[in-house]
Amino acid sequence: MSDMTETSGTPSDTPPEASSDSAPSEVAAPVAATKRSARKRDTSARKRGPSARRRRRSSALVLVLGLMATGVLWTMLAPSGNAAQTADANEAVRQGRALYLQGCSTCHGLGAQGSNTGPSLVGVGAAAVDFQVSTGRMPLAAPAAQADRKPPIYSATQIDQLSAYVASLGGGPEVPKVTDKELSDADLAHGGELYRANCAQCHQAVAQGAPLTYGKFAPSLSESTPKQIVEAMRTGPESMPVFGDRQLNDEDAAAVAAYIKHLTDTKSPGGFSLGKYGPVPEGLLAMLVGIGGLLVVCLWIGARQKV
Ligand code: HEC
Ligand code: HEC
Repeated sequence: MSDMTETSGTPSDTPPEASSDSAPSEVAAPVAATKRSARKRDTSARKRGPSARRRRRSSALVLVLGLMATGVLWTMLAPSGNAAQTADANEAVRQGRALYLQGCSTCHGLGAQGSNTGPSLVGVGAAAVDFQVSTGRMPLAAPAAQADRKPPIYSATQIDQLSAYVASLGGGPEVPKVTDKELSDADLAHGGELYRANCAQCHQAVAQGAPLTYGKFAPSLSESTPKQIVEAMRTGPESMPVFGDRQLNDEDAAAVAAYIKHLTDTKSPGGFSLGKYGPVPEGLLAMLVGIGGLLVVCLWIGARQKV
């Protein structure tokens, strides 16, 4: 189509000699054709020239920017630490694996894939191991409805190594860091609200614990450390639900832990706390022991009087 318009020739295309002739001469025609093709070539060259150069320049710019962005991202996201730290981490995983094979693999399987006496530990994360082993629940001595809290049998270093090994199998929550400053800065009133909304139905109003169904129980939280409290929330041991950080963020979790420690560490200023069951048992005790005692004394005085 464009060829046809080219050959038919617009007035400006046609050379003056050709336009003056009614019929194009044999000489003029090839001249005109070469001129036309030459012009066509150089218009296309003119068209390609600057834009191609600009394109080349802009792609070079994109390349440089891309390289710079990669560099910046690398420095920001690359695992910090040096070879020595990596070697330490590898060593912890190696030691942890040895401890695991010795103490845990009989129930959880040689590769932590689980067996019929223990669940798989792939993906449970360091937090679950730290919680289970530091509260003495694991290693489980014998199958039961629920693992009890016991004095831990592994040292803190060994627990870190076991956690590192299980974490190296992939995924799961990390061991949370709860600093004293976070605890002392925590909003106790907010922690109390969250505790009553999320935890009190199982662990009771003052964290003393209570039985659940099928021989299970929500334990008392008086011995739990703040770290174990946050770990329990993040990993949901046994029949306890998981409270992820979208439900309770780190600040909320610290507030809950601070509130629980406030509940369980506060001495009862009135003397006997009566299991902290609240005003009803306290009232009952006042009635039975207080008024009842006075009645007994009155009766005793009355019985001694000889009339
Ligand atoms: C006698 C068998 C037995 C031994 C030994 C044992 N476990 Fe367990 N483990 C269990 C059972 C059963 C459960 C699930 C029941 C529960 O959580 O109470 C469990 C649960 C766990 C969980 C929680 C998994 C989860 O989904 O959150 C972790 C973590 C764990 N064990 C780690 C260990 C570690 C580490 C050792 C070795 C120090 C160990 N276990 C030794 C039987 C065992
Ligand atoms: C559905 C009932 C339920 C709810 C709700 C629940 N828990 Fe638990 N919790 C349990 C059970 C059951 C265990 C025992 C798990 C085990 O032995 O493996 C437990 C264990 C714990 C422990 C470990 C205690 C120890 O031995 O040191 C802590 C800490 C804890 N829960 C904190 C919380 C907190 C905080 C909340 C609220 C954010 C909460 N729980 C909500 C049922 C519950």
